[in-house]
Amino acid sequence: MRVLFLGDIVGPPGVDMVKNALPAVRRAEGIDLVVANAENASNGTGMTPRTYRLLRQAGIDLVTMGDHVYKKQDLIGVLESDDRICRPANFPADAPGRSYVVAAAADGTLLAAFSVLGRTFMRSVDCPFRAADRVLGELAGKTACVLVDVHAEATADKYLLGHHLKGRVSAVLGTHTHVTTADEQILPGGTAFISDVGMCGPYDSILGRRVDRVLHTTLTFVPTAFDVAEGDPRLAGAIVDIDSATGRAQAIRRFMLDEKGLASLPGLAMKNEE
Ligand SMILES: [Fe+2]
Ligand SMILES: [Fe+2]
Repeated sequence: MRVLFLGDIVGPPGVDMVKNALPAVRRAEGIDLVVANAENASNGTGMTPRTYRLLRQAGIDLVTMGDHVYKKQDLIGVLESDDRICRPANFPADAPGRSYVVAAAADGTLLAAFSVLGRTFMRSVDCPFRAADRVLGELAGKTACVLVDVHAEATADKYLLGHHLKGRVSAVLGTHTHVTTADEQILPGGTAFISDVGMCGPYDSILGRRVDRVLHTTLTFVPTAFDVAEGDPRLAGAIVDIDSATGRAQAIRRFMLDEKGLASLPGLAMKNEE
């Protein structure tokens, strides 16, 4: 099974890249399932139900969220009723939404996905290690193919979770910091790992926001609206090959696609002529 995991989708530039590129990327890369963290999809914080539907129609099978999960309150109804989107697993038990989600590949193999928040420089949440253990307990006997989105500030938190879960899940992949790291590897026991897969959004920015606004506020302490930037939109993520029978990861590679790459994707020209 080949899985594409996309990092934080940020605003219209990120959503448009998903819409324009994902069908062709799925074909060109032979992707079986797509999982994406979409916590910044609408206006940079949270996601509206409309954007959620758009991302699903574009070919995203499972959606994880992060600290911004409830910023667009309309999404709560979707989180409570839809079985393809989950909130972080280490939120309070009463927090709206599921702790994990599952989708089937074309051959019937199930892939489960969930996210946990880190605890360094983030709001106080339940222990991500115990929360992951609890979800894996619920998944026991259901599927061996499990992707964990570790949504955290600190690389150490991400490595700790990778080593806590190695040999028990297919992949531990980082999000939240929005910058791709070059440390992709297969941990002992067949767990794919990377500290951060990068964001899907405008790269001519400060982590997706307008450079002028963030810089002005940083230099003067005067608040400004941190609007989503526009330039150099890209898709970023990781492609993980998983042995469907055992759930062990066989390979992980970084994935980055800019507008130039999008224009030269095989199948895209053909699709536009249809
Ligand atoms: Fe984010
Ligand atoms: Fe985040």
